[in-house]
Amino acid sequence: MDRKTLQDVDVRGKTVLLRADFNVPIAEGGPEAIASYDQRLRVTIPTIRYLIDRDCKVVLCSHLGRPKGEVVEELRMAPIAGRLSELLSRPVEALCDCIGPEVEESVSQMQAGELVLLENLRFYPGEENNDPEFARALASLAEVFVLDAFGSAHRAHASIVGPPRYLPSAAGLLLQREVEIIGKALESPTRPLATVLGGAKASDKIKLLENLLNRTDALFIGGGMAATFLKAQGKPVGASLIEGDLIEYAGDLIARARDRSVALYLPRDVMIASEFSDNPSQISSVDVDHIPDRYHIMDIGPLTLEGFSARLSPCKTVIWNGPMGVFEYDKFAKGTTGLAKVLASLDATTIIGGGSTAEAVESLGLSDQMTHVSSGGGAMLEFLEGKELPGIAALPLKTPSAH
Ligand code: 3PG
Repeated sequence: MDRKTLQDVDVRGKTVLLRADFNVPIAEGGPEAIASYDQRLRVTIPTIRYLIDRDCKVVLCSHLGRPKGEVVEELRMAPIAGRLSELLSRPVEALCDCIGPEVEESVSQMQAGELVLLENLRFYPGEENNDPEFARALASLAEVFVLDAFGSAHRAHASIVGPPRYLPSAAGLLLQREVEIIGKALESPTRPLATVLGGAKASDKIKLLENLLNRTDALFIGGGMAATFLKAQGKPVGASLIEGDLIEYAGDLIARARDRSVALYLPRDVMIASEFSDNPSQISSVDVDHIPDRYHIMDIGPLTLEGFSARLSPCKTVIWNGPMGVFEYDKFAKGTTGLAKVLASLDATTIIGGGSTAEAVESLGLSDQMTHVSSGGGAMLEFLEGKELPGIAALPLKTPSAH
Protein backbone atom coordinates (compact mmCIF):
# COMPACT_ATOMS: atom_id res chain seq x y z
CA MET A 1 0.00 0.00 0.00
CA ASP A 2 1.39 3.42 -0.89
CA ARG A 3 0.05 5.11 2.27
CA LYS A 4 1.81 5.05 5.62
CA THR A 5 1.09 1.99 7.73
CA LEU A 6 1.76 1.30 11.40
CA GLN A 7 5.32 0.27 10.64
CA ASP A 8 5.99 3.76 9.27
CA VAL A 9 5.10 5.75 12.39
CA ASP A 10 6.61 5.80 15.84
CA VAL A 11 3.75 4.98 18.18
CA ARG A 12 5.70 3.72 21.19
CA GLY A 13 4.35 5.17 24.41
CA LYS A 14 2.13 7.65 22.54
CA THR A 15 -1.53 8.52 22.87
CA VAL A 16 -3.14 7.16 19.73
CA LEU A 17 -6.55 8.06 18.30
CA LEU A 18 -7.77 4.89 16.58
CA ARG A 19 -10.74 5.40 14.23
CA ALA A 20 -12.36 2.01 13.87
CA ASP A 21 -15.64 0.86 12.37
CA PHE A 22 -17.61 -0.67 15.23
CA ASN A 23 -20.88 -0.15 13.40
CA VAL A 24 -22.48 -3.48 14.34
CA PRO A 25 -26.22 -4.18 14.11
CA ILE A 26 -26.96 -3.12 17.68
CA ALA A 27 -29.97 -0.99 16.74
CA GLU A 28 -31.99 -3.97 15.54
CA GLY A 29 -31.03 -6.52 18.15
CA GLY A 30 -29.97 -4.62 21.26
CA PRO A 31 -26.63 -5.09 23.01
CA GLU A 32 -26.90 -8.89 23.07
CA ALA A 33 -26.83 -8.84 19.24
CA ILE A 34 -23.23 -7.63 19.34
CA ALA A 35 -21.86 -10.92 20.57
CA SER A 36 -23.57 -12.81 17.74
CA TYR A 37 -22.23 -10.51 15.05
CA ASP A 38 -19.08 -8.90 16.27
CA GLN A 39 -16.87 -9.50 13.24
CA ARG A 40 -16.20 -5.78 12.94
CA LEU A 41 -14.96 -5.68 16.52
CA ARG A 42 -12.84 -8.80 16.25
CA VAL A 43 -11.07 -7.69 13.07
CA THR A 44 -9.79 -4.55 14.79
CA ILE A 45 -8.28 -6.46 17.72
CA PRO A 46 -4.85 -7.02 16.05
CA THR A 47 -4.38 -3.26 15.62
CA ILE A 48 -5.46 -2.58 19.20
CA ARG A 49 -3.07 -5.23 20.49
CA TYR A 50 -0.26 -3.84 18.34
CA LEU A 51 -0.74 -0.49 20.09
CA ILE A 52 -1.11 -1.97 23.58
CA ASP A 53 2.09 -3.98 23.05
CA ARG A 54 3.88 -0.69 22.37
CA ASP A 55 2.63 0.93 25.58
CA CYS A 56 0.24 3.26 23.78
CA LYS A 57 -2.73 4.93 25.41
CA VAL A 58 -5.45 3.93 22.99
CA VAL A 59 -8.37 6.30 22.36
CA LEU A 60 -10.85 4.31 20.29
CA CYS A 61 -13.62 5.97 18.32
CA SER A 62 -16.35 4.95 15.88
CA HIS A 63 -19.84 5.76 14.73
CA LEU A 64 -22.76 3.45 15.42
CA GLY A 65 -25.90 3.56 13.30
CA ARG A 66 -27.26 6.78 11.84
CA PRO A 67 -28.26 9.08 14.73
CA LYS A 68 -28.01 12.11 12.42
CA GLY A 69 -26.21 14.51 14.74
CA GLU A 70 -28.33 13.84 17.82
CA VAL A 71 -27.92 11.77 20.94
CA VAL A 72 -29.89 8.54 20.51
CA GLU A 73 -29.83 6.48 23.71
CA GLU A 74 -29.98 3.11 21.90
CA LEU A 75 -26.88 4.05 19.91
CA ARG A 76 -24.52 4.70 22.79
CA MET A 77 -21.15 3.00 22.59
CA ALA A 78 -21.10 1.46 26.09
CA PRO A 79 -22.19 -2.05 24.93
CA ILE A 80 -19.44 -1.97 22.31
CA ALA A 81 -16.89 -1.12 25.01
CA GLY A 82 -18.22 -4.06 27.02
CA ARG A 83 -17.78 -6.50 24.16
CA LEU A 84 -14.32 -5.13 23.27
CA SER A 85 -13.33 -5.55 26.86
CA GLU A 86 -14.35 -9.23 26.72
CA LEU A 87 -12.46 -9.76 23.47
CA LEU A 88 -9.32 -8.07 24.80
CA SER A 89 -9.57 -9.38 28.37
CA ARG A 90 -8.87 -5.92 29.73
CA PRO A 91 -11.01 -2.90 30.64
CA VAL A 92 -12.25 -0.56 27.92
CA GLU A 93 -13.80 2.52 29.49
CA ALA A 94 -16.73 4.02 27.57
CA LEU A 95 -16.56 7.81 27.85
CA CYS A 96 -19.77 9.83 27.93
CA ASP A 97 -18.75 12.16 25.09
CA CYS A 98 -16.27 12.29 22.23
CA ILE A 99 -14.85 15.79 22.57
CA GLY A 100 -14.72 18.43 25.30
CA PRO A 101 -13.07 19.05 28.69
CA GLU A 102 -14.35 15.88 30.41
CA VAL A 103 -12.99 13.70 27.64
CA GLU A 104 -9.70 15.60 27.65
CA GLU A 105 -9.45 15.08 31.39
CA SER A 106 -10.13 11.32 31.12
CA VAL A 107 -7.56 10.92 28.34
CA SER A 108 -4.95 12.89 30.28
CA GLN A 109 -5.30 10.43 33.20
CA MET A 110 -4.67 7.36 31.02
CA GLN A 111 -1.69 5.09 31.67
CA ALA A 112 0.31 3.11 29.11
CA GLY A 113 -1.70 0.21 27.69
CA GLU A 114 -5.05 1.60 28.78
CA LEU A 115 -8.04 1.98 26.50
CA VAL A 116 -11.01 4.29 26.31
CA LEU A 117 -13.84 4.36 23.77
CA LEU A 118 -15.30 7.72 22.82
CA GLU A 119 -19.07 8.18 22.55
CA ASN A 120 -20.77 7.73 19.15
CA LEU A 121 -19.13 10.21 16.76
CA ARG A 122 -22.36 10.75 14.85
CA PHE A 123 -24.02 12.28 17.92
CA TYR A 124 -22.30 15.43 16.61
CA PRO A 125 -23.46 16.88 13.25
CA GLY A 126 -19.83 17.89 12.67
CA GLU A 127 -18.90 14.27 12.05
CA GLU A 128 -20.94 13.74 8.89
CA ASN A 129 -20.56 17.41 7.84
CA ASN A 130 -16.80 16.95 7.92
CA ASP A 131 -16.45 19.94 10.21
CA PRO A 132 -12.74 20.82 10.57
CA GLU A 133 -13.29 22.08 14.13
CA PHE A 134 -14.78 18.75 15.18
CA ALA A 135 -11.85 16.94 13.55
CA ARG A 136 -9.38 19.26 15.27
CA ALA A 137 -11.02 18.63 18.66
CA LEU A 138 -10.76 14.88 18.15
CA ALA A 139 -7.16 15.12 16.99
CA SER A 140 -6.23 17.27 20.00
CA LEU A 141 -6.81 14.22 22.21
CA ALA A 142 -3.87 12.31 20.74
CA GLU A 143 -0.35 12.40 19.32
CA VAL A 144 -0.85 9.91 16.48
CA PHE A 145 -3.89 8.99 14.36
CA VAL A 146 -4.53 5.48 13.07
CA LEU A 147 -7.32 4.78 10.59
CA ASP A 148 -8.49 1.18 10.72
CA ALA A 149 -12.11 1.77 9.68
CA PHE A 150 -12.05 0.23 6.20
CA GLY A 151 -15.85 -0.10 6.42
CA SER A 152 -16.17 3.69 6.67
CA ALA A 153 -13.24 4.75 4.48
CA HIS A 154 -15.68 5.70 1.70
CA ARG A 155 -17.18 8.41 3.92
CA ALA A 156 -15.50 11.84 3.87
CA HIS A 157 -16.46 12.39 7.50
CA ALA A 158 -14.55 14.44 10.04
CA SER A 159 -13.08 11.56 12.05
CA ILE A 160 -12.00 9.76 8.86
CA VAL A 161 -10.40 12.45 6.72
CA GLY A 162 -9.79 15.19 9.31
CA PRO A 163 -7.17 13.95 11.81
CA PRO A 164 -4.39 13.41 9.21
CA ARG A 165 -4.37 17.20 8.77
CA TYR A 166 -3.26 17.61 12.38
CA LEU A 167 -1.42 14.44 13.42
CA PRO A 168 1.15 11.95 12.14
CA SER A 169 -1.14 9.31 10.67
CA ALA A 170 -1.14 5.78 9.33
CA ALA A 171 -3.37 2.91 8.25
CA GLY A 172 -4.05 0.23 10.84
CA LEU A 173 -3.44 -3.45 10.24
CA LEU A 174 -7.03 -4.13 9.13
CA LEU A 175 -7.16 -1.28 6.64
CA GLN A 176 -3.76 -2.32 5.29
CA ARG A 177 -4.88 -5.94 4.87
CA GLU A 178 -8.14 -4.96 3.14
CA VAL A 179 -6.37 -2.67 0.69
CA GLU A 180 -3.55 -5.10 -0.05
CA ILE A 181 -5.69 -8.21 -0.56
CA ILE A 182 -8.53 -6.63 -2.50
CA GLY A 183 -6.09 -4.36 -4.36
CA LYS A 184 -4.02 -7.35 -5.51
CA ALA A 185 -7.15 -9.16 -6.70
CA LEU A 186 -7.95 -6.14 -8.83
CA GLU A 187 -4.48 -5.26 -10.07
CA SER A 188 -2.49 -8.48 -10.31
CA PRO A 189 -4.64 -11.48 -9.43
CA THR A 190 -3.46 -15.05 -9.72
CA ARG A 191 -5.55 -16.19 -12.68
CA PRO A 192 -8.12 -17.31 -13.57
CA LEU A 193 -9.99 -14.58 -11.68
CA ALA A 194 -13.70 -15.17 -11.11
CA THR A 195 -16.20 -12.59 -9.93
CA VAL A 196 -19.45 -13.79 -8.37
CA LEU A 197 -22.14 -11.17 -7.97
CA GLY A 198 -25.54 -11.37 -6.34
CA GLY A 199 -27.85 -9.26 -4.23
CA ALA A 200 -31.18 -7.72 -4.98
CA LYS A 201 -30.44 -4.97 -7.47
CA ALA A 202 -28.35 -4.86 -10.64
CA SER A 203 -28.22 -1.06 -10.33
CA ASP A 204 -26.07 -1.41 -7.17
CA LYS A 205 -23.47 -3.34 -9.13
CA ILE A 206 -23.16 -1.47 -12.43
CA LYS A 207 -19.99 0.48 -11.62
CA LEU A 208 -18.45 -2.63 -10.19
CA LEU A 209 -19.38 -4.62 -13.31
CA GLU A 210 -17.79 -1.94 -15.45
CA ASN A 211 -14.56 -1.97 -13.47
CA LEU A 212 -14.35 -5.76 -13.30
CA LEU A 213 -15.33 -6.58 -16.86
CA ASN A 214 -11.82 -5.52 -17.97
CA ARG A 215 -10.15 -7.57 -15.28
CA THR A 216 -12.07 -10.76 -14.61
CA ASP A 217 -11.87 -14.01 -16.58
CA ALA A 218 -15.30 -15.25 -15.53
CA LEU A 219 -18.42 -13.57 -14.20
CA PHE A 220 -21.15 -15.42 -12.31
CA ILE A 221 -24.44 -13.64 -11.67
CA GLY A 222 -27.07 -14.84 -9.20
CA GLY A 223 -29.39 -13.27 -6.65
CA GLY A 224 -32.29 -10.96 -7.44
CA MET A 225 -30.14 -9.00 -9.90
CA ALA A 226 -29.98 -12.06 -12.20
CA ALA A 227 -33.66 -11.51 -13.12
CA THR A 228 -32.79 -8.35 -15.08
CA PHE A 229 -30.10 -10.25 -17.01
CA LEU A 230 -32.44 -13.19 -17.66
CA LYS A 231 -35.07 -10.76 -18.94
CA ALA A 232 -32.45 -9.26 -21.27
CA GLN A 233 -31.98 -12.76 -22.68
CA GLY A 234 -35.70 -12.96 -23.33
CA LYS A 235 -36.46 -15.38 -20.48
CA PRO A 236 -39.74 -15.20 -18.57
CA VAL A 237 -39.10 -13.96 -15.03
CA GLY A 238 -42.63 -14.24 -13.62
CA ALA A 239 -43.37 -11.68 -10.91
CA SER A 240 -39.70 -11.17 -10.02
CA LEU A 241 -38.56 -7.64 -9.47
CA ILE A 242 -36.63 -6.44 -12.49
CA GLU A 243 -35.11 -3.07 -13.27
CA GLY A 244 -36.76 -2.22 -16.56
CA ASP A 245 -34.41 0.64 -17.32
CA LEU A 246 -31.44 -1.72 -17.08
CA ILE A 247 -32.58 -4.47 -19.42
CA GLU A 248 -30.84 -2.89 -22.39
CA TYR A 249 -27.71 -2.33 -20.33
CA ALA A 250 -27.75 -5.96 -19.18
CA GLY A 251 -28.03 -7.15 -22.79
CA ASP A 252 -25.14 -4.89 -23.77
CA LEU A 253 -23.00 -6.18 -20.91
CA ILE A 254 -23.68 -9.78 -21.95
CA ALA A 255 -22.50 -8.87 -25.48
CA ARG A 256 -19.40 -7.04 -24.24
CA ALA A 257 -18.46 -9.98 -22.02
CA ARG A 258 -18.68 -12.24 -25.07
CA ASP A 259 -16.54 -9.85 -27.16
CA ARG A 260 -13.89 -9.76 -24.46
CA SER A 261 -13.96 -13.53 -23.93
CA VAL A 262 -15.14 -13.13 -20.36
CA ALA A 263 -17.12 -16.26 -19.52
CA LEU A 264 -20.49 -15.08 -18.21
CA TYR A 265 -22.68 -17.50 -16.27
CA LEU A 266 -26.30 -16.82 -15.40
CA PRO A 267 -28.64 -19.21 -13.55
CA ARG A 268 -29.88 -22.21 -15.56
CA ASP A 269 -32.50 -23.03 -12.98
CA VAL A 270 -34.00 -21.13 -10.07
CA MET A 271 -36.07 -21.72 -6.95
CA ILE A 272 -39.41 -20.01 -7.34
CA ALA A 273 -42.21 -19.26 -4.89
CA SER A 274 -45.87 -18.38 -5.28
CA GLU A 275 -45.45 -15.48 -2.83
CA PHE A 276 -42.43 -13.46 -1.74
CA SER A 277 -42.48 -14.82 1.80
CA ASP A 278 -40.47 -17.07 4.11
CA ASN A 279 -43.24 -19.66 3.96
CA PRO A 280 -44.94 -19.49 0.58
CA SER A 281 -47.69 -21.94 -0.31
CA GLN A 282 -45.78 -23.28 -3.32
CA ILE A 283 -42.07 -23.69 -3.97
CA SER A 284 -40.31 -25.46 -6.81
CA SER A 285 -37.16 -25.44 -8.87
CA VAL A 286 -37.62 -24.75 -12.57
CA ASP A 287 -35.33 -24.08 -15.46
CA VAL A 288 -35.17 -20.47 -16.44
CA ASP A 289 -37.19 -21.01 -19.63
CA HIS A 290 -40.20 -22.09 -17.60
CA ILE A 291 -40.78 -19.56 -14.84
CA PRO A 292 -44.57 -19.23 -14.55
CA ASP A 293 -46.35 -15.89 -14.35
CA ARG A 294 -46.94 -14.61 -10.81
CA TYR A 295 -44.03 -16.64 -9.37
CA HIS A 296 -41.00 -14.99 -7.80
CA ILE A 297 -37.38 -16.04 -8.26
CA MET A 298 -36.09 -16.62 -4.72
CA ASP A 299 -32.75 -18.39 -5.16
CA ILE A 300 -30.51 -20.06 -7.70
CA GLY A 301 -31.47 -23.69 -8.34
CA PRO A 302 -29.48 -26.89 -7.67
CA LEU A 303 -28.26 -27.26 -11.26
CA THR A 304 -26.97 -23.70 -11.25
CA LEU A 305 -25.11 -24.29 -8.00
CA GLU A 306 -23.58 -27.43 -9.47
CA GLY A 307 -22.61 -25.58 -12.65
CA PHE A 308 -21.14 -22.60 -10.78
CA SER A 309 -19.21 -25.00 -8.56
CA ALA A 310 -17.68 -26.88 -11.52
CA ARG A 311 -16.68 -23.65 -13.27
CA LEU A 312 -15.25 -22.08 -10.15
CA SER A 313 -13.06 -25.07 -9.32
CA PRO A 314 -10.13 -24.15 -11.65
CA CYS A 315 -10.19 -20.48 -10.58
CA LYS A 316 -7.29 -19.19 -8.51
CA THR A 317 -8.85 -15.94 -7.29
CA VAL A 318 -12.55 -15.49 -6.52
CA ILE A 319 -14.25 -12.26 -5.49
CA TRP A 320 -17.80 -12.78 -4.21
CA ASN A 321 -20.19 -9.94 -3.44
CA GLY A 322 -23.92 -10.42 -2.86
CA PRO A 323 -26.08 -13.37 -1.82
CA MET A 324 -27.43 -15.82 -4.41
CA GLY A 325 -31.00 -15.63 -3.14
CA VAL A 326 -33.22 -14.45 -0.31
CA PHE A 327 -30.96 -16.14 2.21
CA GLU A 328 -32.67 -14.51 5.21
CA TYR A 329 -35.47 -17.01 4.53
CA ASP A 330 -34.22 -20.52 5.39
CA LYS A 331 -36.02 -22.10 2.45
CA PHE A 332 -34.10 -19.93 0.01
CA ALA A 333 -30.66 -19.95 1.59
CA LYS A 334 -29.34 -23.04 -0.21
CA GLY A 335 -27.77 -21.15 -3.11
CA THR A 336 -25.89 -18.77 -0.84
CA THR A 337 -24.83 -21.40 1.70
CA GLY A 338 -23.94 -23.85 -1.08
CA LEU A 339 -21.79 -21.25 -2.82
CA ALA A 340 -20.08 -20.37 0.47
CA LYS A 341 -19.18 -24.04 0.95
CA VAL A 342 -17.87 -24.28 -2.62
CA LEU A 343 -15.63 -21.24 -2.11
CA ALA A 344 -14.42 -22.53 1.25
CA SER A 345 -13.24 -25.72 -0.45
CA LEU A 346 -11.35 -24.06 -3.31
CA ASP A 347 -7.59 -23.98 -3.59
CA ALA A 348 -7.75 -20.27 -4.41
CA THR A 349 -7.61 -16.79 -2.96
CA THR A 350 -11.20 -16.21 -1.89
CA ILE A 351 -12.38 -12.68 -1.09
CA ILE A 352 -15.80 -12.25 0.40
CA GLY A 353 -17.67 -8.95 0.23
CA GLY A 354 -18.79 -7.37 3.44
CA GLY A 355 -22.37 -6.76 4.53
CA SER A 356 -24.82 -9.57 3.91
CA THR A 357 -22.31 -11.82 2.08
CA ALA A 358 -19.96 -11.68 5.06
CA GLU A 359 -22.90 -12.30 7.37
CA ALA A 360 -23.86 -15.45 5.46
CA VAL A 361 -20.31 -16.81 5.50
CA GLU A 362 -19.94 -15.92 9.15
CA SER A 363 -23.20 -17.60 10.16
CA LEU A 364 -21.98 -20.81 8.50
CA GLY A 365 -18.74 -20.68 10.45
CA LEU A 366 -16.77 -20.58 7.19
CA SER A 367 -14.96 -17.26 7.60
CA ASP A 368 -11.72 -18.93 8.62
CA GLN A 369 -11.72 -21.00 5.45
CA MET A 370 -11.79 -17.92 3.22
CA THR A 371 -8.68 -15.92 2.43
CA HIS A 372 -10.39 -12.70 3.39
CA VAL A 373 -13.85 -11.66 4.57
CA SER A 374 -14.05 -7.92 4.08
CA SER A 375 -15.28 -5.72 6.90
CA GLY A 376 -16.58 -3.22 4.37
CA GLY A 377 -20.04 -3.23 2.83
CA GLY A 378 -20.42 0.00 0.86
CA ALA A 379 -16.68 0.65 1.19
CA MET A 380 -15.74 -2.66 -0.40
CA LEU A 381 -18.19 -2.03 -3.23
CA GLU A 382 -16.66 1.37 -3.92
CA PHE A 383 -13.16 -0.07 -3.72
CA LEU A 384 -14.12 -2.74 -6.27
CA GLU A 385 -15.61 -0.02 -8.44
CA GLY A 386 -12.10 1.41 -8.66
CA LYS A 387 -12.85 4.57 -6.67
CA GLU A 388 -10.26 6.12 -4.43
CA LEU A 389 -11.75 6.02 -0.92
CA PRO A 390 -11.49 9.43 0.82
CA GLY A 391 -10.23 7.90 4.07
CA ILE A 392 -7.32 6.23 2.32
CA ALA A 393 -6.59 9.28 0.16
CA ALA A 394 -6.36 11.43 3.32
CA LEU A 395 -3.54 9.31 4.79
CA PRO A 396 0.02 10.46 4.09
CA LEU A 397 1.99 8.72 1.38
CA LYS A 398 4.96 6.66 2.46
CA THR A 399 8.15 8.64 2.13
CA PRO A 400 10.92 7.01 0.06
CA SER A 401 12.99 6.48 3.21
CA ALA A 402 10.17 4.50 4.78
CA HIS A 403 10.38 1.78 2.09
C1 3PG B 1 -21.19 0.53 7.05
O1 3PG B 1 -21.85 -0.13 7.86
O2 3PG B 1 -21.19 0.27 5.83
C2 3PG B 1 -20.27 1.60 7.56
O3 3PG B 1 -20.14 1.54 8.95
C3 3PG B 1 -20.72 2.95 7.11
O4 3PG B 1 -21.99 3.22 7.64
P1 3PG B 1 -22.94 4.26 6.89
O5 3PG B 1 -23.42 3.59 5.64
O6 3PG B 1 -24.05 4.55 7.87
O7 3PG B 1 -22.12 5.48 6.57
